[in-house]
Amino acid sequence: MKSSYNFCNKLFHGCGIAGMRLLDSGSVQQVVTSPPYGTMRDYGGHSFYFKSMANELWRVIKPGGIVCWHVQDQMTDGAESGESLRQCLYFLELGFRLPTNLTIEFSKYGKHSFRYGQPIQHVFVLSKGKPRVFSPIMDIPNDSAGRLHTYKEQLKKGIASRTVRINPFRKRGVHWSYSVGTHNTSDRVQHPALMPEILAHDLIRSWSKEGDLVLDPMSGGATTAKMAFLLNRRYLGFEINREYHDIAVARMQKTSEEAAKPKFNKRR
Ligand SMILES: C[S@@+](CC[C@H](N)C(=O)[O-])C[C@H]1O[C@@H](n2cnc3c(N)ncnc32)[C@H](O)[C@@H]1O
Repeated sequence: MKSSYNFCNKLFHGCGIAGMRLLDSGSVQQVVTSPPYGTMRDYGGHSFYFKSMANELWRVIKPGGIVCWHVQDQMTDGAESGESLRQCLYFLELGFRLPTNLTIEFSKYGKHSFRYGQPIQHVFVLSKGKPRVFSPIMDIPNDSAGRLHTYKEQLKKGIASRTVRINPFRKRGVHWSYSVGTHNTSDRVQHPALMPEILAHDLIRSWSKEGDLVLDPMSGGATTAKMAFLLNRRYLGFEINREYHDIAVARMQKTSEEAAKPKFNKRR
């Protein structure tokens, strides 16, 4: 009998589509993943079957669960392929909703002679029904922080007037800017296309709770697994390339050893 619980906190070597077929339907709260971008990189010559991947994601995700699909288009003869948009439309055809369409901007990115630089990537935040979890990140400084604000509130008994002090920070918008490069990590990992750790962190923190299962069916160097572990979520990853899988297992081993070390406060 299938039991997704048995697969928690593990990284497997193998195809993510086949791996997901071992999971119960509706057993995953969140997926944070990046597919291969066209033929931009050869991850060992494996074919990528987008529709089979998307169909399995729809099956395993819980009602109210979220798929964060991090993509960038391949450039061919000086033009973007449009593949990521086609993928997004297919997800919508399957029944996913698109509550948030994030643009991610990085401070360091490749330069090209024939076009403007492209510091932008996309994350389609897709939900199966209404999102069950949303814990927005509040890190945009409020211009009027500390001032008093009075507003009217409709109550059963009538209209009440309330005064609150404006918070120092407000909720982010759908454009997230990071002052790091497109593959930034805190450790050295030999994978050509890592998701920046801060991005995986912010996606997991926003759309899952502690104890939830976070899956990456194309786990690469295990950035999603690492951030899920550090945020006290359960993780699961499948990676088709043996070399990357071994690197990811070593990275998770190091991460858990470091997390287990006692932390001492420095004395002055
Ligand atoms: C863009 S990278 C993902 C990087 C990952 N997010 C990270 O931060 O390490 C895409 C990965 O998908 C893997 N891959 C491609 N097709 C796959 C499949 N069917 N099943 C599992 N992994 C696959 C590739 O080998 C590659 O490591």
